[in-house]
Amino acid sequence: MTEEQVKQRLRQLSMEIRAADQQYYEDDAPVLTDASYDALRKELVALETDYPHLVRADSPSRSVGAKPSGKFGKITHKVPMLSLDNAFTDQDVEDFTARIKRFLNLPEDTVLEFSAEPKIDGLSAALRYEAGILVSGATRGDGQVGEDVTANLRTLQTVPKKLAGTGWPDVLEIRGEVYIDHADFDAMNDAQIAAGKEAYKNPRNAAAGSLRQIDPSVTAERPLKFFAYTWGDISAPLSDTQIGAVEAMERWGFSVNNLMRVHKSATSMIGHYHDIESARSGLGYDIDGVVYKVNDLSLQERLGFVSRAPRWAIAHKFPAEKAITKINAIEIQVGRTGAQTPVARLEPITVGGVVVSNATLHNEDEILRLGVKPDDVVEIQRAGDVIPQVLRVVEDSKGKPFVFPRVCESCGAETVRETDAKTGRVDVVRRCTNGMNCPAQAVESLIHFVSRRAFDIDGMGEKQIAAFYERKLVKGPADIFTLEARNDEIKLESWEGWGETSARNLFAAINARREVDFDKFLYSLGIRHIGQGNANLLAKHYLAFENFYESIQSIEDELSGAWLELMAIDGVGAGAAGAVRDFFKSPANQELVNNLLEQIIVINAEAPSSDSVVSGKTVVFTGKLEKFSRDEAKARAQSLGAKVSGSVSAKTDYLVAGPGAGSKLKKATALGVKVLTEDEWLELID
Ligand code: IVH
Repeated sequence: MTEEQVKQRLRQLSMEIRAADQQYYEDDAPVLTDASYDALRKELVALETDYPHLVRADSPSRSVGAKPSGKFGKITHKVPMLSLDNAFTDQDVEDFTARIKRFLNLPEDTVLEFSAEPKIDGLSAALRYEAGILVSGATRGDGQVGEDVTANLRTLQTVPKKLAGTGWPDVLEIRGEVYIDHADFDAMNDAQIAAGKEAYKNPRNAAAGSLRQIDPSVTAERPLKFFAYTWGDISAPLSDTQIGAVEAMERWGFSVNNLMRVHKSATSMIGHYHDIESARSGLGYDIDGVVYKVNDLSLQERLGFVSRAPRWAIAHKFPAEKAITKINAIEIQVGRTGAQTPVARLEPITVGGVVVSNATLHNEDEILRLGVKPDDVVEIQRAGDVIPQVLRVVEDSKGKPFVFPRVCESCGAETVRETDAKTGRVDVVRRCTNGMNCPAQAVESLIHFVSRRAFDIDGMGEKQIAAFYERKLVKGPADIFTLEARNDEIKLESWEGWGETSARNLFAAINARREVDFDKFLYSLGIRHIGQGNANLLAKHYLAFENFYESIQSIEDELSGAWLELMAIDGVGAGAAGAVRDFFKSPANQELVNNLLEQIIVINAEAPSSDSVVSGKTVVFTGKLEKFSRDEAKARAQSLGAKVSGSVSAKTDYLVAGPGAGSKLKKATALGVKVLTEDEWLELID
């Protein structure tokens, strides 16, 4: 090759690699296979090594990390980003206000203030300011750790780079919603279509895609906006009230929603909800409900959080949108717990701006209740992110009734509807009895294991898991961690659609997850009833996985200390406790866990607050408490790191006894447990 030819070829290669990067990272539509991409890069590097003086200033080999990593850095939220509980009916709102008064031990007729504002249908983001300057911005992620999208958030006009006014705390983390309004969304889609690209489904998807661009200059061209509505880590309080804090945010230069009002009763909150609902179509941006928050911030602090949502707020959702369409077929899907879920395959129809082609029929009984069968015309509804569901048959096809299969759709094994030993009730869900021998259960469990809220292995999704499982290379989660060591035989880089880079990236992503937090580990095992909330409660209680594992395996019957300890954890119900016990009792699951423990390290959870005098102590409350409700006393003790138990034993450190205490007081006295009055307890923890 002449130097001129080399120059030409380098120009050509740079262009092709850049185009491929753009298709892959920006358009999410890769055209080249990994192998062809790798070949281009190899050729580029080889030529550049031989002709260093011809390396172009814009060569892809010069960009940081060569091929963009496709990943954002992580930001750990100092204060977790939680979600909201939902209310659907007026009664739910009444219950919410009553529940709050009960928790605060206030008489029912107490007048409490609540703020009410639209629930914006976008994606939440956190902006951190230090000395009034924007220093970082993150997505919500799993609530604990988000993605570092600082450069992208900086491009939003409604995100102040420097705070206005005065009086902001030195550290100020503002949280709110990133969204795209209707007019901008329409214009954006017109441009997409004109460029021969696919239109975005809805403003929220468009906003999410736009914020997570690798190249911030692409985000800058997207019409993203930001509404501020709450805060995270702060070095000083913003105000005494929710509304005062939001007013302060406005003075500091943030856009806040102008439909926020303060109300003094559930009735007036519900009135505001209907006003916002009527205004909804003319607002110019998507909202999916109204959020109510206790206005007094000192009460918010007392109310605290339960699991993943604050006690002091609730989202009153708008009713689901409905549509009429035909059922083309009914199919059964098998989930990771073996549940056989019937799904209606629909004639595609647009509901609330989204094309729906599947709806859940929940279970066998629901099919009977609805009397639904293929070819029926049905009414369906879709509410937010919830899977669409079939409401009723509108036109009977007069075809044959649907017969629910008695054997597993995936493996043909027997299916059963379990009977609850205590209540004698038959479960509505029919489950496969074949455990991990059922391919669908095994694959679904593995998909759950690598998912974002569990091990979060980048590049390992449904498709990859299915491919590894089919080739019998990954049968259980531990096998994922031995893939690299077996790659001399597997030769992943030579598989269709894979290349050296993608294989290397996958192994790196797997290795990056060899240390995992206790709660994530528990959640990843896919135990029934153990979602993120329960996993977190268990981790915070047992602190080390080994303690937990040993304790659960020692459960013999319902009188075992280990069982009583598990049952006494606030927030962990009997269903979850039973599921944990059953899971770890099974030898197959023990083997699965032991194999995994050979590959990974489980990081201990942190005790909630180790500097408090009651941290790690076991407390029992009995009798009537006068200053606090029992729930608040319990929540407060737990937030200080104490374990709250329902029964007195030799392990009890304190019995807090109010008037009317009976047998527990007697037992504590007999065992020599320290007995405190409510005031003495308060003195101790304050
Ligand atoms: S307050 C502790 N206010 O809704 C959580 N959230 O479903 C405080 N959202 O993750 C959140 N509009 O992304 C709050 N006016 C609003 C909101 C709002 C939308 C989102 C937020 C949150 C999700 C929960």
